[in-house]
Amino acid sequence: PRPILLTRHGESLDNVRGRIGGDTVISDAGELYAKKLANFVEKRLKSERAASIWTSTLQRTILTASPIVGFPKIQWRALDEINAGVCDGMTYEDIKKNMPEEYEARKKDKLRYRYPRGESYLDVIQRLEPVIIELERQRGPVVVISHQAVLRALYAYFADRPLQEIPHIEVPLHTIIEIQMGVSGVQEKRYKLMD
Ligand code: G3H
Repeated sequence: PRPILLTRHGESLDNVRGRIGGDTVISDAGELYAKKLANFVEKRLKSERAASIWTSTLQRTILTASPIVGFPKIQWRALDEINAGVCDGMTYEDIKKNMPEEYEARKKDKLRYRYPRGESYLDVIQRLEPVIIELERQRGPVVVISHQAVLRALYAYFADRPLQEIPHIEVPLHTIIEIQMGVSGVQEKRYKLMD
């Protein structure tokens, strides 16, 4: 059985400020997580030859992967965070105050709501299809370093969760979700490396 390790990037400067989207670097806490993750991955996948590290094209995932050495790294645009369109760079408070109709529409149907000039969760789920096909095809373990909305969708696929639940699944920072696909189904372990 080969594991798939799912993790969000280490805390970013936008996470600290509560802004969505953007392409900031990681904070000091995020850098500490990157080191702990590298340690974990190097121990966990030591004897695995065909392992690879997949990131998005955004700085925060690339920086989170950077202390990991000895495995090939691949950047996927399909692993980039949900595109918040005109709301990119705003806080949820900003959206509530300046675009109340958008805020309410999203609250009502978070799965289908599409940010103006951006994406919906359904859009994200659709663009992940080639990633999932490639993940299924891999012979070795894969570490996927991505973003909350994307990981909700990937996790739901492997854990067989209903579509409607996807936008609400908890994917905390600084935690690795290990998925094992064996003959008896899918097994899951979580490793919280720091707060
Ligand atoms: O920046 C986007 C967030 O990671 C997604 O969170 O879909 O719960 O607003 P949300």
